[in-house]
Amino acid sequence: MKMNYELMKTFKSRKNKVELIYDIDNGMKLVRKEYLNLEHCKKKETSILRILEKHNVKVPRIIYENNNMIYMTYISDVTLLDYFLLIENDIVIDKDKAIIDIFKKVFSWLEQYYQITFEYMGRRLIFYDINFRNFLIKDDIIYGIDFEDSISGSKEIDGGRFCAYLLTYKPILTEWKINITAKVIDLLVDDFKYDRKSLLNEIKKELDKINFRRWDGHRTSKVKYIISLLDSYAE
Ligand SMILES: Nc1ncnc2c1ncn2[C@@H]1O[C@H](COP(=O)(O)OP(=O)(O)O)[C@@H](O)[C@H]1O
Ligand SMILES: [Mg+2]
Repeated sequence: MKMNYELMKTFKSRKNKVELIYDIDNGMKLVRKEYLNLEHCKKKETSILRILEKHNVKVPRIIYENNNMIYMTYISDVTLLDYFLLIENDIVIDKDKAIIDIFKKVFSWLEQYYQITFEYMGRRLIFYDINFRNFLIKDDIIYGIDFEDSISGSKEIDGGRFCAYLLTYKPILTEWKINITAKVIDLLVDDFKYDRKSLLNEIKKELDKINFRRWDGHRTSKVKYIISLLDSYAE
């Protein structure tokens, strides 16, 4: 297919080449994702996208694909990370409620993801690369993207990584982030039936990995403090 398009922008992407294009013939914006690594990743991602779309879970719709690219519907420019940092810096509204409300939607989205993929694969698939740029927000609705790294596992791994990322977006380990994490833990345990012990354990594991990547494995006093705080939540 020969496409008439204009390149509008390139998204921040760690693993691939992801661009916003304007499809001139059809008069619409599309996102083009070019897979730079393995063909395997594209296969995994497109099959998950199709299964979820079929079951009305909010994901981009694939419009067209070829060898190493997919063209999908453009969702929005607002990632969960943008929203999260915006809320943290906001002084007016009820910050805690605003962010917990949106997180509830993220975890409800994940419940659907777990259920649908489980039905298809016969095993628990988790999101795994659960960084806040892999969720988009449009009209107060959460969309999930980026399923290349999905693997088998327990949902506490996703929950734990989610909390560890939450804590370490810059500025890291602020009082607000620590308070919100405590609320997220209670939310996951009480409303979404996560196992508290393994959730706390996964948060610590991921914090250690992040600590290792960023500061060469020497637990900073801030990280030590947060680990001891997490230990106290277990009791
Ligand atoms: N369908 C889409 N609509 C809007 N933005 C998107 C869409 N798909 C990807 N993006 C943007 O591109 C970024 C990278 O895409 P992603 O699929 O996460 O690739 P990577 O594997 O490189 O992380 C996302 O964080 C998001 O900002
Ligand atoms: Mg991504």
